Amino acid sequence: STEPADYRPAYHYAPAKNWVNDPNGLVYLDGEYHLFYQYNPYGDTWGHMSWGHAVSQDLKTWEELPVALKEYSNADSTETMIFSGCVVVDSLNTSGFFAPGFRKGMVAIYTSHVYKGEEGLAQHQSLAYSADKGRTWTYYGKNPVLDIGMKDFRDPNVFRYEDKWKMVVAKPHEYSVQIYESTDLKEWKLLSEFGKMGDMAKIWECPSLFKVPVEDTLPEKWVMMISSAAEDTAFTGMQYFVGDFDGKKFTPQKQKEVFRVDLGKDFYAAIPFHNLPPTQPQPIMMGWVNNWAYANKIPTEGFRGMFSLPRALSLYQQDGVYRLRQRPIFKDKLPVRTLTMKASDLAAGVIMKLDGNSYRVDLTVELAEAKDFEIKLLDNETETSLLSYEIATGKMTFDRTKSGKVAFHEKFSSVESMTVMPQNGELKLAIFVDNSVIEIYANDGMAVLTDLVYPTKSKGVVVIGEQRKVE
Ligand code: FRU
Repeated sequence: STEPADYRPAYHYAPAKNWVNDPNGLVYLDGEYHLFYQYNPYGDTWGHMSWGHAVSQDLKTWEELPVALKEYSNADSTETMIFSGCVVVDSLNTSGFFAPGFRKGMVAIYTSHVYKGEEGLAQHQSLAYSADKGRTWTYYGKNPVLDIGMKDFRDPNVFRYEDKWKMVVAKPHEYSVQIYESTDLKEWKLLSEFGKMGDMAKIWECPSLFKVPVEDTLPEKWVMMISSAAEDTAFTGMQYFVGDFDGKKFTPQKQKEVFRVDLGKDFYAAIPFHNLPPTQPQPIMMGWVNNWAYANKIPTEGFRGMFSLPRALSLYQQDGVYRLRQRPIFKDKLPVRTLTMKASDLAAGVIMKLDGNSYRVDLTVELAEAKDFEIKLLDNETETSLLSYEIATGKMTFDRTKSGKVAFHEKFSSVESMTVMPQNGELKLAIFVDNSVIEIYANDGMAVLTDLVYPTKSKGVVVIGEQRKVE
């Protein structure tokens, strides 16, 4: 059948086959961006966690490479899966894993998840290294390198700070992130612990801590990103804190509310690229486009899971606090439609026919005199992915309850909303539609919403205009 192919994204990375979840070890080296990721080499649901691998020269087109890190069996009849982690370039050979003077060694720091049968026994942090740009790897003989005797202790992210390595790693059920320091990646010393604030509804995983430039004023701030799978609250996804890091301790700014990275249902486990060239001062991150609530059930065949567009990050100030701005990096060859609409254009309505379901629509709406309006994506007589905007409140709503296949899981059918206040009387939207994923960037990345959808019929129809009821 051709239908599953219709759900395969054209400009988002998804593996040729099988299951993926978190991006792991995002790192740049010698003209190549590496995307390692949680991967099941044997099937299209979660299991046998290993690290898959893809590379790109421009963050737009990816080439899939053989599995990088494979699960293994231990002498005591337990097994180890390779859970999430990061990759650093050990250009000074601090680890001693490489030949003297070799500057291009990669070291992966991952969570070794030990289990027997169905039972998880331990999680600790381990190392593997590669002298051929991530193509082949050797596990360190003295793993693990960091074990605090906890069953849930995972997702290390390591970065260089002055002349030391620092690691953030999550204690999921304590809603906390520990910060460690090392000179050689092998011996780790605890520096501080951050947490017990913000969203504590379920667990904390996949932490990262990195510098982000502040627009206009130049000095940088530090951002702590955390994936908090608050499945039973209205929200499932990621939160962030902005603050300062003195090499030992992260101190967040005062925030009255929880800051969400993405206001949709399907953006998780994002981490930033390490070792970006100096020509790229803004951090770039990628996330997993999915949601643990229904991830194993999404109706794609052969492959299951994909990654978001890479997003360049900066901070802007609003009402005395710093917030994250995300700007997507996308294929130049993408079909793009650009429209500027006034109240009269909205009232008349526009029907756009595009060639297929992979495109970008850029819309600037001049809000003066305009009434509340709707944008229908992937639209036909019976299905629509509906975006609506309420002018008085700035409330933007994305409704996928009638977007196509929704019944495969009770939590999938959903309506999300975010507040997007006009900027200079205008609302700007960059809408990326890619077969089964929609990423919406409002006001130049001040608010982002990512959602999966599974239309069964539409071919490239977008309807823009005033509110009208969809049955
Ligand atoms: C997050 C996560 C990580 C873990 C990995 C296992 O999505 O649960 O905490 O390392 O997935 O696949």
